[in-house]
Amino acid sequence: MEAIIVTGAGTGLGKELALLLSKQDYHVILTGRTEDTLNAVKQQIEQSGGSATVQALDLRNLEEIKEIALLLSKKHTLSGLVNNAGIGYFGPFSETSDTEMEEVFQTNVFGTIHMTKAILPYLEQNQKGLVVNIISTAGLRGKKHEAVYCASKFAVRGFTESLQKEYEATDIRFVAAYMGGMNTPFWEESEHVADPTKFRSATEVAEIIVNNLEKTEIIIESKKS
Ligand SMILES: NC(=O)c1ccc[n+]([C@@H]2O[C@H](COP(=O)([O-])OP(=O)(O)OC[C@H]3O[C@@H](n4cnc5c(N)ncnc54)[C@H](OP(=O)(O)O)[C@@H]3O)[C@@H](O)[C@H]2O)c1
Repeated sequence: MEAIIVTGAGTGLGKELALLLSKQDYHVILTGRTEDTLNAVKQQIEQSGGSATVQALDLRNLEEIKEIALLLSKKHTLSGLVNNAGIGYFGPFSETSDTEMEEVFQTNVFGTIHMTKAILPYLEQNQKGLVVNIISTAGLRGKKHEAVYCASKFAVRGFTESLQKEYEATDIRFVAAYMGGMNTPFWEESEHVADPTKFRSATEVAEIIVNNLEKTEIIIESKKS
């Protein structure tokens, strides 16, 4: 059975993508830092007849990424990667701390780039594969009080578009997904958004993504309020 890795699979969009991908004949490798939430998703997948593995992984740690990629490649036929994990700190740029800026880039940008670098050799071995990068409409245009977050998502956009060109003659496909606000735990510790319940659910966004994986670019704008 072909396996797909989903980063940040314990909550929000990553969880919903993992549930749907498990119904598409993938063995889903659920990664993130919190094992409890990942185990709960694994249980849900198994209860619906799918199969999943939990692998704790902090994307800010390059050595951990390399070790785990090797470990997973020995146990599974890796055919896909969903770079979903991401964080954001919002507010005036002048009030954004150096630590926050570094953490956003380490997770959103280097997490995605290092994971892709670590997994690509196995996709190349099988001469086919799918990499889905969860970006945001913050990767399409700048937004007030989101300077560093937008910068990180523009970086992932450039990375994805470049690899699409580099691999266009192969069966390794890169999909860029740009979505507006979603009602997920992402907003739990932020006052940047007044009412996240107005946003689309992660389930709705995950369904749109999984139904459009043949495209190179999936744009899901926010609902009009
Ligand atoms: N919510 C929105 O409005 C929105 C809109 C557009 C795009 N997005 C993007 O959608 C993606 C998913 O976000 P979400 O809304 O579903 O939020 P979420 O529920 O907070 O999910 C983010 C996931 O990333 C994981 N994560 C964070 N830091 C990590 C690290 N260092 N290593 C490994 N995993 C890490 C978290 O798990 P642990 O804490 O357990 O590690 C969490 O499960 C993100 O890339 C986000 O930027 C969100």
